[in-house]
Amino acid sequence: MNRHFQLEQDDSGLAWLHFDMADSPVNLLSMETLDALDQALINAAQLHPRGLVLLSDKPGGFLAGADVRSFAGIEAPEQAGEPIRKAQRVFSRLENFSFPSLALIHGHCLGGGAELALACTYRIAEADSTRIGLPEVRLGIFPGFGGTARATRIMGSWNAMKVMLGGRAWRARPARRLGLVDLVVPERQLRHAARQLLRERPTPHRPPWWNPLLESPPGRLLAAELFRRQVAKRARPEHYPAPYRLIEHWRRTVGDFDAMLDGEAKEVPELIHGDTAQALIRAFLLQERLKDEGKKSDFTARHVHVVGGGVMGGDIAAWCALRGLRVTLQDQGARQLRRAIGRAHALFAKRLRDPRLATEAGDRLIPDPRGYGAARADVVIEAIFEDLAAKQALYAELEPRLRADALLATNTSSLPLERLGERLAQPERLVGLHFFNPVARMQLVEIVAGKATDAGIAARAAAFARAIGKLPLPVASRPGFLVNRMLMPYLLEAVTLFEQGVPGSVIDRAATDFGMPVGPIELADRVGLDICLRVTETLSEHFPLKTPSALAERVATGRLGQKSGQGFYAWRHAHPQKPPAGREWKSQARRRELSDRMILRMLNEAVACLREGVVADADLLDAGAIYGTGFAPFRGGPMHYIHRRGLHTIERRLRELEKHHGEQFHADSGWHALAS
Ligand code: NAI
Repeated sequence: MNRHFQLEQDDSGLAWLHFDMADSPVNLLSMETLDALDQALINAAQLHPRGLVLLSDKPGGFLAGADVRSFAGIEAPEQAGEPIRKAQRVFSRLENFSFPSLALIHGHCLGGGAELALACTYRIAEADSTRIGLPEVRLGIFPGFGGTARATRIMGSWNAMKVMLGGRAWRARPARRLGLVDLVVPERQLRHAARQLLRERPTPHRPPWWNPLLESPPGRLLAAELFRRQVAKRARPEHYPAPYRLIEHWRRTVGDFDAMLDGEAKEVPELIHGDTAQALIRAFLLQERLKDEGKKSDFTARHVHVVGGGVMGGDIAAWCALRGLRVTLQDQGARQLRRAIGRAHALFAKRLRDPRLATEAGDRLIPDPRGYGAARADVVIEAIFEDLAAKQALYAELEPRLRADALLATNTSSLPLERLGERLAQPERLVGLHFFNPVARMQLVEIVAGKATDAGIAARAAAFARAIGKLPLPVASRPGFLVNRMLMPYLLEAVTLFEQGVPGSVIDRAATDFGMPVGPIELADRVGLDICLRVTETLSEHFPLKTPSALAERVATGRLGQKSGQGFYAWRHAHPQKPPAGREWKSQARRRELSDRMILRMLNEAVACLREGVVADADLLDAGAIYGTGFAPFRGGPMHYIHRRGLHTIERRLRELEKHHGEQFHADSGWHALAS
C-alpha cells in the first residue's frame, strides 16, 4: 500500500496495520514515515474495521522513536516544530477513531514509539523482549508527540512523571504495573490476545483514585517541588534543563489535554534547538558511530579464554559470561581464581536478579588453572601483570596452542603492541582490547592496533566488544592510547592543585560544576593511586609530565585510595570523607579558574592526540572522551566544546595559564592545524 506500511483486514473485521520502514533496520518516525502513517490510517478507517491493530514487522521491535538525526544541527526552533505538530495531528486522528485501536508491542518501543502506542486504546506487550519508555530527557528534551498529555491521562501523573523524568526503558511486567501497557503475554499469544481484547473491549486503563488530588492546584505545587528535588539529585538545571522544564510544563498544564499538546509544541522545539539537547543528540549519534565500528566484521565468538584473574581479567571474564559467552579463566594463583569467581557470582546476582539465570551464567564461567581452554577459544584475552617480559613469555607458551582463527588480545594499558608482539610467529593477530575499571560500568573498550596488527583482526576485535555490549573505539598503539592520555594531565593538574593547598572537595566541586560525573581527586582515589602513579610514570617516559609528590608519597606509604581505606581522602563504607572547605573557597569564579586549569590541560592533550592520529577524527575523540573519561556529555565532547567556546579564546587562555602556572600549559602545535 505504501513503502512503509501494509494494511490487511481479516475475516473477523479487524484491520492489521504493519509498520516495516523501508531501507531501515528499525522503525523510526520521520516526516516521511509520519505522512505514510497518516495515509495508512485514513485507508484503515475507510475499511470501517471492528478494531485496528498496529504492529511492527521488524524483528528488533515495535518502534525505536523519532529519527534523532533529523534533530541534529537544526537552525531554528520552528524547524523542529513542524514534525511535532504533524505527529500530534496524526496521533490524534488515530485516537479519535470511532473504533478501538491496539498497539501490539515487542522489543523496543521508545520515545515516539511509546507515544504512538499511548494514542491507541489498548497496549499489549510481549513478555520477554519488550523495552518501553519515554527516554526523551536523556536527549535533553521531553515527549512532544502528545506523550505528556496521554501518559498523564492514562497512567496518572505520578507514574507518568516517573517514566518521563527517569527516562528508563521498562520491561513488560513493570510497565504493566505502571499502567503503561494493559496486558503482558508470551510471543505466541500476541495475536490471539489482541483479538480477544478487541472483542471484549474492557474499559481502558485509568489513573488511581487519588490522582485528582495530585493534579489539584495545591497538589501540583507540592508534587512539582518533590519532582524537582528528585531530579536535582541527578542533574543540575544549568546543565540539564529538560527535566525541570518538563516539571514546569506539567504543573502549568496538567488536566487540560489541549494545553498540554500546545505546551509540548512550544517547549520541545526550544529545547531541541538549545545547546544541551544539541550536545546530547551529538553524544547519542557518536554512540551510534561507535556501534557501527563493531559492524565492520561479522565475527562471532562463543568461547573466550582469559589469562590473569586479577582485578581486570576476573571482571572481564565475569562480564563475558554475563553476556552469554562460555568463558574459561586461567590464573597462576588459586586464591585469585576463587576471588574472581566470587565477584562474578555477585555480579550475576545483581544484574540478572533471576536465580535461574544467575546459575546459568555461573555455569558458563569455568575456572581453568591449567589453561586448557586456550586451545578451543575464539578469543584469548591476556590480563596478567603489566610486565613486558612476563607477557612475552606467556605468549610464547600460548601461541602454538591457539586455534588458527583465534584472536589474541591484550588488556595492556601502557605497553606498545609492537614490543609485546615482537616474538610472535604471527604478530598480525595481536590486538589490544583495553577495558576500563570497573569493567561492568565502563562502556568503552579501546581497540588498539599496533603497526603489525591486521586490519581484519582489529575489526573482529571491535565486533567482539560490541557483541558483549561495549562500545569499541579504534585507537593507535601510542602511549596511553586515548583515554588515559587525556585523563592523566587533568588528574595531575588536580593533584598539583591539591599540593598547593586547595581542598580536595573544592577541586572536585570545580570539576563537577563543569559537568564531570565525579571530581578528579575522588576519581584518583577510586581508581587507585598506585595505578595512577604507574600510568603517570609510563606516560612520563614519552611526554613531559611531572609526577606530583603528593601522589608518589601516598603510594610509598600504602595510602592507595578507596581500596586501602585512605588516599587523598579517608574512605568509609565506599564513600570518601571530604573535609569541609573554608569560606574563602565559596566563590564560583574561583572554582571556574580551577576547572579551567584542569579542563584546559585535557583539551590541550586532546588536540595533541588528534594531531598524532591516536584516533582517526575529532568525532571519535569526542566519543572516547564522553564514554571513556565521563567528559560532560552535555558539552558534546572536548572538540565540540573547543569550537563552541572558541578556539582562539582557549588558546589565549592557555597562554595566560602558561605565564602564571608553568609550561604544562604550553599550547600543542596541533592548535594551528585546527585553526586552519
Ligand atoms: P592484577 O595484578 O590485579 O592481576 C593480574 C593477575 O594475573 C594476577 O591474579 C596474577 O596471579 C595473574 N598472573 C600473572 N602472571 C600470570 C601468568 N603468567 N599466568 C596466569 N596468571 C598470571 O592486575 P590488573 O590490575 O588486573 O591488570 C591486568 C592487566 O590489565 C594489566 O596489563 C594492566 O595494565 C591492565 N589494566 C588494568 C587496569 C586497572 O585499573 N587495574 C585498567 C585497564 C587495564
